[in-house]
Amino acid sequence: MGKVVILGVFVADTAYRAARMPKMGETILGNTFALGPGGKGSNQAVAAGKLGGDVTIISRLGEDDFGQMALQTWKAADVKGAIKYSPDAYTGAAFIFIDDKTGDNAIIISPGAAADISVEDIRENADLIAAADVFLTQLEQPIDVAHEGLITAKRNGKITILNPAPAAELPKEVFEVCDYITPNETEAEAITGLPVRNEIEAETAAQSLAALGVKTPIITMGEQGAFLFGYGMVRAYNAGSVVETTGAGDAFNGAFAVALSEGKSAVDAVRFGCATAAISVTRPGTAPSMPTRDEVEQLLRA
Ligand code: RIB
Repeated sequence: MGKVVILGVFVADTAYRAARMPKMGETILGNTFALGPGGKGSNQAVAAGKLGGDVTIISRLGEDDFGQMALQTWKAADVKGAIKYSPDAYTGAAFIFIDDKTGDNAIIISPGAAADISVEDIRENADLIAAADVFLTQLEQPIDVAHEGLITAKRNGKITILNPAPAAELPKEVFEVCDYITPNETEAEAITGLPVRNEIEAETAAQSLAALGVKTPIITMGEQGAFLFGYGMVRAYNAGSVVETTGAGDAFNGAFAVALSEGKSAVDAVRFGCATAAISVTRPGTAPSMPTRDEVEQLLRA
């Protein structure tokens, strides 16, 4: 079993399904509400843990009910925590609007205690990162902390993955310590300034990411699949009707990291990630929608 260390954020997701987003100053009636575990780093850790990875998450929590939700979520998915508590801060939360017809989403996240994750937290966990096979992070905690994690992993010869979500302006040195970067179409466009609507545009954007110093860019493209630099398009899997796309990128990243930690090739790891994401979108919620290993292997065989 490969070891995966994930630096990232837990927040409580508050998800509202409605026909449309309200306009400024307007109140509309929604159709459903759900409260559940979320945060990109935590969702990726849950995905990886449910798939059988040996997973540890580095994060920060507040001492409150949402912090308890994080601990229960990780326990259920067999995820270990390297956690610090910020007693004066709250555990964060996300507002998620889900379009009732398409299952697509729009999100506001307030990371709370996780915004205090520091470079010092990474230094304290340097041995943990050095003992991993794969290090994975995103951009919901401060960028300099993500950078420090990537540098620490790279210095120790580990595989590094940056999921650049939410999209942000990044210094060139960050790209140079990424073996893999995994933006979706919107994030790839935000970084490169190039539109990504099809395979040809994905290849151009991936080339631009490679020119910035990333070894192997991967662009996730929803129902089209994922573009793997140096290989081409890996087609999406169909696991049934789409209920909610929130967390699909997290499913992909958690699964991709586990597969790499087990020594799978990049293309097989992308297939594994796409199959995991395909199942997650057939279910509501983010962390709760992550599939088991058996489910993913069955889809890959089908
Ligand atoms: O990727 C989905 C996640 O983004 C949600 O769980 C929400 O918390 C935001 O962090």
